[in-house]
Amino acid sequence: MRIINLAENTEGAAGCGFEHGLCFYIETEQHKLLMDTGQSDLFVKNAEKLGVDLTKVDTVVLSHGHYDHGGGILPFAGINPDAKIYVQSTAFGDYYSIDSKGQPHYIGLAEGIQELPQVVKIDAEDSIYRIDDELSLFTGIGNDHPIPSANQRLMKKTEEGMVQDDFGHEQCLVIHEGTKSVLLSGCAHHGILNILDRYRELYGGDPDVVISGFHMMKRHGYSDADITMIIDTALELNKLNTVFYTGHCTGVEPYNAMKKLMGEKLHYVHSGDEIRIRTKLERIPWKVVESEPEAALENRERLSADEAPLKAKAVRKKKAGRKKDRESKAADKKKGADVKRNGAIVLAAAAWLVLTVVTGRKK
Ligand SMILES: [Fe+2]
Ligand SMILES: [Fe+2]
Repeated sequence: MRIINLAENTEGAAGCGFEHGLCFYIETEQHKLLMDTGQSDLFVKNAEKLGVDLTKVDTVVLSHGHYDHGGGILPFAGINPDAKIYVQSTAFGDYYSIDSKGQPHYIGLAEGIQELPQVVKIDAEDSIYRIDDELSLFTGIGNDHPIPSANQRLMKKTEEGMVQDDFGHEQCLVIHEGTKSVLLSGCAHHGILNILDRYRELYGGDPDVVISGFHMMKRHGYSDADITMIIDTALELNKLNTVFYTGHCTGVEPYNAMKKLMGEKLHYVHSGDEIRIRTKLERIPWKVVESEPEAALENRERLSADEAPLKAKAVRKKKAGRKKDRESKAADKKKGADVKRNGAIVLAAAAWLVLTVVTGRKK
């Protein structure tokens, strides 16, 4: 599986542009899809730079109803009017962010998106929303773990006025391919630990890979409670047999703190970065795959396949050794015979000399 980030907050590979937003392009066995579309048409420009053909995309999943994830939907629909766009119905609500002066700013989706005929509106379900064998969506995320404190300034406008956003419009995408499961969330407004609880409830076990913002970024510094939550989250995630890719609303400082605790289990995805996930057994050179269990298995198969020639080589070596031994013994034997013969000649000569002397005296 190939996953390319087409928009993220930070500068990354191949001179791609960046913005506050998130967009992933994903190639699976059966699909070419987008998870979110960033806040503008930037992802279209980055796709061109990276050689990604957006006209081939068949599916779009919108993680939630915020402009920095759905802002590219209209530009995309202009390029590709056929791809289905899966959105929670409630994502078309009036969502606001309250700034430090108490002023509300609209952060919802642009007008016109919900009228697009290719938009599939989903009403939050109790179970998994299956697109097909490979792709599914889920909502209904609980709150056993604390939710990100950065949510506090995010509101929903209702007939009764502004109320705290409950993020019922947030949905997660799960991709199953081969032996691997990949969970994608946009901002994890419910908190990544609550999302993982819901995943376990619905799918059992933990996903192999999680790709998600963690919504920990704060513009005006981090309180002790924020730092505790960041560290607790990292320690919990570290217990899982899962690799995490993050960026966007996680924030660079929280990421750095988590990275220190999680090491190779956590990676930052910048604009233009690519993630490759091996989802089935593949024949690959065995020197580079020591840490891959499937590859190790594959190598064992390779070794057993190579065993016959190895054995034949060993037999040839043994035979050659035996021949050398025989030749060496024969040489030693010949040398011994030569020594004996020379000794006999010396003795004969000596005897002849003695005999000649004795005979001469008699004469
Ligand atoms: Fe976001
Ligand atoms: Fe968001």
